[in-house]
Amino acid sequence: MKLPEMQVAVLESASADDPTPVEQIAEEVDEPPQAVTRAAFELQEEGLVSVAERTETEYALSEEGETYAYDGLPEHSLWVGGLSNDAVDEPIELGQAIGHAGLEDEQVEIALSNFARKGMGTIDSGTIQVDPDFDLEGDAERAILEVLRGEEGEFDPDEADEDALASLQRRGLVDTAESTVREVTLTDEGVTAMMEGVEVAETVGQVTPELLTSGEWQDVEFADYNVEADAETVHGGKSHPLREMSERVKDVLVGMGFEEMQGPHVDADFYINDCLFMPQDHPARNHWDRFALEEPAAIDRENLPPDLVDRVESAHRDGVGPDGEGYHSPWDEDFARALALRGHTTNLSVRHLAGLAEGELEPPQRYFSIEKAYRNDTLDSTHLLEFFQIEGWVMAEDLSVRDLMGTFTEFYEQFGITDIEFKPHYNPYTEPSFELFGRHPETDELIEIGNSGIFRPEMLEPLGVEADVMAWGLALERLFMLATGAEDIRDVHGTLVDLDFLRTEEVVY
Ligand code: PHE
Repeated sequence: MKLPEMQVAVLESASADDPTPVEQIAEEVDEPPQAVTRAAFELQEEGLVSVAERTETEYALSEEGETYAYDGLPEHSLWVGGLSNDAVDEPIELGQAIGHAGLEDEQVEIALSNFARKGMGTIDSGTIQVDPDFDLEGDAERAILEVLRGEEGEFDPDEADEDALASLQRRGLVDTAESTVREVTLTDEGVTAMMEGVEVAETVGQVTPELLTSGEWQDVEFADYNVEADAETVHGGKSHPLREMSERVKDVLVGMGFEEMQGPHVDADFYINDCLFMPQDHPARNHWDRFALEEPAAIDRENLPPDLVDRVESAHRDGVGPDGEGYHSPWDEDFARALALRGHTTNLSVRHLAGLAEGELEPPQRYFSIEKAYRNDTLDSTHLLEFFQIEGWVMAEDLSVRDLMGTFTEFYEQFGITDIEFKPHYNPYTEPSFELFGRHPETDELIEIGNSGIFRPEMLEPLGVEADVMAWGLALERLFMLATGAEDIRDVHGTLVDLDFLRTEEVVY
């Protein structure tokens, strides 16, 4: 009998008495397990071997489990802390034992509940008393963690204490992963074939240019493909779902007649704040909220247009128009020259409105950008330190709040979001101002999705704009969450992303 090389190798490694795992054959013949699996299934098809499958569970320490495997379980540290402070005959202050145990804040709760569960002593109204007879060494959870550290040989789940193993899984200290083990056994037919002699057939697995040009392809034997054989999942390259969402938003806005703006990520505070009639003592301008640049720390004086600087300064000091009211507070050009990562992309709107990007603009105009903004926020499920802002503005004669709301309604409808809510808001640069909210499809929570308004004369007049301008900054990530149901933005982008989600999530109209 003639068979392809890999099948012959598998036949030779397999036996009729003992099932041989595919992994072991792969190692013996020095071929990838996938190729061996494929050959085994082909042989099974021909009746020469049988392939048995079973699922095996693998156990491994989680990150937290690993820490405790080396440092000891928190409840053990607490017990030791109590013991070393003589909390045997008389209870002592709990704080004293915790302090001695060197527990992190988030470990205290864990230590207390497990201490109680394992009956390691008594905790009562802020005091602790330890049971000196508790057998620390004999704690089955500890034993498992230590074996899983991998320094004392293989972990055998059948030998481990079942309750302790389940408890460690519940505590998130031990993770499990399922894998499929396949074992190959020679059938009677296989044994007969081996006895009669099996030879390697020269088969061709792939058509090459050489085979074609030489005409040799006419004489060779081609290997059969088994299209039903198990194969490894291949995750091909794919654009990031957030990128796809950004492309969709771009399509929608271009469809609504908007042109795209571009501009610097690092900009002078003058464009990020002062031109927006943001007072220089506004809380968002303090150094905690912004990412300031160290080198260079400021834009050169001659790089700011002097006329614009004068007009902005005068708006801040005295306001605009006959009844204008400015802030009457100090305004310092040096403060305005400081460079920072933009906290919003409204600096792009400013540069365009001031005629510094595309030249003087006559109404009507519509512009947008989908660009990163940077804020020193606290990370949580809806906040990242950098996020994409969907900035936009419309310049026209006689704009009203209805135009603003109508634009949002039309925009969000394209993403199936039909229940946006508006809340009155305050921005130094818009009057009136509105925050936008949308309901999360999974959590039903009302989440903020944007901020908007009609630019004030104190902002527009210094920029030389005579028409009305309505404007907004919407968060791309929040739109993404509402449109896809993603519940935690950290799963979507940043260092903690959920790869499975990114591989499978689709962004569709
Ligand atoms: N800059 C505002 C923000 O980041 C958004 C906004 C832009 C609001 C333009 C009104 C007008 O929240």
